[in-house]
Amino acid sequence: TDEKRVALLGFGTVGSAVAHLLHDQKFEGVRLTHIYNRGIARKQGSDRASGLSGDIVWTENIEDVLNSDANVVIEVVGGLHPTGEWLTRALASGKHVVTANKQLIAYHGAELSQLARQNGVSLVYNAAVAGGVPVIPAVLHGLQGDRVRQIAGILNGTCNFILSQMEAGADYHDVLAKAQAAGYAEADPTADVDGFDARAKLCILARTAMQVGLNPDAVPVQTIRNVRLVDFHYARDLNCTIRQVARVESDGDTIRANVGPTLVPHTSPFAWSHGTQNLVMTTGEFGGDVVFSGHGAGGNPTAVAVVSDLLAVAHGSASPLLPVQDRAVSREFVAPHYLR
Ligand code: HSE
Repeated sequence: TDEKRVALLGFGTVGSAVAHLLHDQKFEGVRLTHIYNRGIARKQGSDRASGLSGDIVWTENIEDVLNSDANVVIEVVGGLHPTGEWLTRALASGKHVVTANKQLIAYHGAELSQLARQNGVSLVYNAAVAGGVPVIPAVLHGLQGDRVRQIAGILNGTCNFILSQMEAGADYHDVLAKAQAAGYAEADPTADVDGFDARAKLCILARTAMQVGLNPDAVPVQTIRNVRLVDFHYARDLNCTIRQVARVESDGDTIRANVGPTLVPHTSPFAWSHGTQNLVMTTGEFGGDVVFSGHGAGGNPTAVAVVSDLLAVAHGSASPLLPVQDRAVSREFVAPHYLR
């Protein structure tokens, strides 16, 4: 049969949201069979585990997963090692891989996708960039016909949360602590505030949308740690605010790329993104500017990206136009929340 038996690596903020989303939505042809995490007994006994199907194998031994008959591995553990070795083995043994691992895809995505092709399986990484904003599938499928010359983005929810709260007068350290408590920040928030997280996402976008291979180490980053409240006052005098912006630009010969705190005019969509919102603007030679925005961090939004990738794999990427049956439409006008 072509049932997808799914092993989930990682049961933290994103992993547990993925498990619950799969449980709630009951997608046909997709079954969660394994959950791997370190210290699995504690995870299995936690509130997050309650309500999940009883026939899932919970394990802290990665071999239980790699040697299982699961044919899709979802990885939401993060880090280059040992995750990279695990995913290499999974692909080499003919398992599809769905990953949210920004650093791994930024540094080794090209090799891993080659390995996937050699083994007739898919490697998908929608969740690695901009959380719940489906910018990777959009540039991959929707913008392939263009020649993308520039990408600029707010690619780190934690930085955007910090800077947009500082814009309203909040203290840097208080807001960072909130972002950590809410599960937006990386385990080591250095990756967020110093720009390494956004840089990895930028490199993934450059490769995917512009066919520009960039080693993340080659892209300069500037930290947001030194941004002070007074900087927002100066910015306001210029009709601007401050956001962490990641940018890559190519004119065919020259590539320019960088990540850091940036003055953005109040009239620019970059200034309108608050909280953990991410925003990506692509500029194509033929199609011009396209803007994508939404929640860039957090369990549920990122889980949507992971599960959507899983379904793309399960459906062999062809998207059927379903259902066949049309529904009646109410004539009653209900104002959407943004009009209320
Ligand atoms: N720490 C990341 C962020 C999580 O704040 O955007 C999503 O990659």
